Amino acid sequence: MVGRFKSGLLVVGAVALAAAGAETLARSTAPPGAVAYTADGRAMLPANYRDWVFLTSGLDMTYAEPAAVVTSHMFDNVFVDPAALATFRRSGRWPEGTVLVKEAREGLTKGSINKAGQFQSEAVADVELHVKDTRRFGGWAFFKIVDGKPGAIIPKTASCYSCHDEHGAVDSTFVQFYPTLAGIARARGTLK
Ligand code: HEC
Repeated sequence: MVGRFKSGLLVVGAVALAAAGAETLARSTAPPGAVAYTADGRAMLPANYRDWVFLTSGLDMTYAEPAAVVTSHMFDNVFVDPAALATFRRSGRWPEGTVLVKEAREGLTKGSINKAGQFQSEAVADVELHVKDTRRFGGWAFFKIVDGKPGAIIPKTASCYSCHDEHGAVDSTFVQFYPTLAGIARARGTLK
């Protein structure tokens, strides 16, 4: 009886140790600025992404052929975590743990003193994440976050991956549209 109790304790101890080991591993490979995940693997919106580095605003960009007729307007704002950007500036490459955020906001025409042109809505339509984590995802992974709620990984069969792989100028990211980064990649020889 005592023996069984003891081995039970041993098993509990081993499980706790293994869990602690996995935890340490997860932490030691988790890069700065990284995305946190819920227990069921949903990506949480990085709380401070608005303090990251701004790369571009696209307005009404559309990728379909023939281009769809634009009836409402949409801006997208792209941000990158500063740690990843520091590596990119040195090497023209994205390190493990890179997180890029694309935030969509409606383009509005009527408001305050505006007479022409468009400005961005206060409300965020959605946020998409592009995360490089080879250990976890075997490469890059996309997530869509609506209403700030954690989002599940978008399946690898989705067109997000094929378009980005085929047309993204650096490692499946659209550096050709990020005016402060394109020149760096060109100089480092990483621009496709
Ligand atoms: C047909 C091509 C195409 C498809 C499909 C596509 N994207 Fe993109 N994506 C782009 C382009 C072009 C940009 C650059 C946007 C800009 O310049 O503002 C971009 C930028 C992004 C970015 C910013 C970081 C980066 O990788 O450059 C994210 C995040 C993103 N897309 C997520 C998604 C998700 C999620 C999907 C699928 C639901 C998706 N995209 C599908 C073309 C595509």
